[in-house]
Amino acid sequence: MDGVTVIDHPLVQHKLTIMRKKETSTAGFRRLLKEISTLLCYEVTRDLELTIERIETPLTETDSPVLEGKKLVFASILRAGNGLLEGMLELVPSARVSHIGVYRDHETLQPVEYYFKAPESLNERLVIVVDPMLATGNSSIAAIDKLKERGAKNIRFLCLLAAPEGIRNFQASHPDVPIFTASIDSHLNEKGYIVPGLGDAGDRMYGTK
Ligand code: URA
Repeated sequence: MDGVTVIDHPLVQHKLTIMRKKETSTAGFRRLLKEISTLLCYEVTRDLELTIERIETPLTETDSPVLEGKKLVFASILRAGNGLLEGMLELVPSARVSHIGVYRDHETLQPVEYYFKAPESLNERLVIVVDPMLATGNSSIAAIDKLKERGAKNIRFLCLLAAPEGIRNFQASHPDVPIFTASIDSHLNEKGYIVPGLGDAGDRMYGTK
């Protein structure tokens, strides 16, 4: 699928299978989510630009690569997006974090924002928006609408599972935002759940059901 990268690393796929199992405990789900998010982060940052810095090792001076540009932003769509943050921040400890509470009103289709916090200079940073489930796509579309209103230009979207319907909806609104996912599942059911999916990601990571 154009604009979608499926992260098919064997460790990602193995961990995802355990996360999907209904008998996996809250503690197990949370631990796996942390592990898998580190691996997903590795892939979503694979092509970041580097610049050369002159450094001194204990032996000599040398030119060596470092990440170019301002610090990355990880933008978590509340609440389930927070489950991906811990593992990602372990890999990129200096990343800035944005929290976005937003949903799309069913009647007006307008994004309703109930929380938004982001670092300055969004227009100069790569913003990686995270939410485990790309289901209808409505909340991620609304979150990215809000980030773009505040100047973000260079955006990627990272999730664990995506439904084909959500991908189509998302790409109709934000064709410039590449999607990274561990799986494109079969479909959405009548309640908006991804099938086969893993259930409600927020409930499973926080034990709220
Ligand atoms: N959100 C979830 O947590 N799970 C789904 O299957 C769909 C949306």
